[in-house]
Amino acid sequence: MTGESEKSWILMATARSPTNIAVIKYWGKRDEELILPVNDSISVTLDPDHLSATTTVAVSPSFEQDRMWLNGKEISLSGGRYQNCLREIRKRARDVEDEKKGIRIQKDDWNNLHVHIASYNNFPTAAGLASSAAGFACLVFALAKLMNVKEEYGELSSIARQGSGSACRSIYGGFVKWAMGNNPDGSDSIAIQLAEETHWNDLFIVIAVVSSKQKETSSTSGMRESVQTSALLKYRAETVVPSRVLKIEEAIRDHDFASFARITCADSNQFHAICLDTTPPIFYMNDTSHRIISLVERWNQSEGTLQVAYTFDAGPNAVMIAPNRQAAALLLQRLLFYFPPPQDTDLTSYILGDKSILQEAGLQSVEGIEALAPPPESKDKVPRKKFAGDISYFICTRIGSGPKLLADENQALIDPVNGLPK
Ligand code: ADE
Repeated sequence: MTGESEKSWILMATARSPTNIAVIKYWGKRDEELILPVNDSISVTLDPDHLSATTTVAVSPSFEQDRMWLNGKEISLSGGRYQNCLREIRKRARDVEDEKKGIRIQKDDWNNLHVHIASYNNFPTAAGLASSAAGFACLVFALAKLMNVKEEYGELSSIARQGSGSACRSIYGGFVKWAMGNNPDGSDSIAIQLAEETHWNDLFIVIAVVSSKQKETSSTSGMRESVQTSALLKYRAETVVPSRVLKIEEAIRDHDFASFARITCADSNQFHAICLDTTPPIFYMNDTSHRIISLVERWNQSEGTLQVAYTFDAGPNAVMIAPNRQAAALLLQRLLFYFPPPQDTDLTSYILGDKSILQEAGLQSVEGIEALAPPPESKDKVPRKKFAGDISYFICTRIGSGPKLLADENQALIDPVNGLPK
């Protein structure tokens, strides 16, 4: 390592990684340490412009310990998940030379150098939107760039998996499968890209972030309890998922929205059925989640074909996938009819992400929402009660690309002079 005597240099890498939503759910580990699942899962990667983590990793001989700041607050790196990622990347680190800065780091030096990590999520971290998937994928990707790790993306995905299971799927854009693998050491439990984000770019996604004050069961403990107590989990993993995976892969390949939507909804509902089948039962969805399911099911039934798919992770938020912008606009009209913004909330803070969809839906103002007619399928069937305040906000987005290195130093989250978050 050169520059050792004048301990002033800092080398950095900054990356941005998307989050993802599973359409075939990951629920249950067969190995808790290595984070190995009991079944394959499939996800779509969400547009990083709307849902992503940005992470800067910096190294300097002046750093005295590994440190991390998440959204500006220092957090402990002592947890096994961060340690797994740091250890596995350091193991694969190579020589690095930055001629301009006069820095040479040799492979073996990496074990004696500490890193500073600053990460920022462009969406609320505690909103139940898989921030740890984006976060661990980004951490692994940025560390791999900094340390000149040359391994294939599949191998990086298996390192990200050891931070947070679903993070392995955020290593790619588009449609992604996490193959459960069979090897006891987890070496074949990796993510594989099924199709790029451009493959089916008509799809449009609307996320309803549901207001919830309830403390949820963490996914880690929830899935452990399901593995221990739910007979349905075993049946699903062994009997249901293998054929569903084949069918949804076919639907993705053929742009078959009806099949894609049918399987997506069925798999989300079965996952939540497993939660109910767990002792004691786990409730991730709430009344608002159930109202959204009813709204979509009623609409789908009245049309006779599937207009929209819904899926819910371990929380009450709804992720809805529409086949195109027009269908997404019709969905938004329905959602805003039942869940208008609370008084004094302006539309720009209620609808986040790709706001152009509001124009498509003819809803550029709160007055436009107030004037919305009830959806035709609701006529005379249910009282047209409204639920203002039950949804915090909506995010309108698309399918997105995988992790990217941000080469512009101005985008770094760490100050290149003092090595601390900007
Ligand atoms: N957990 C939630 N968000 C994260 C991030 N951006 N980086 C690492 N871990 C996270």
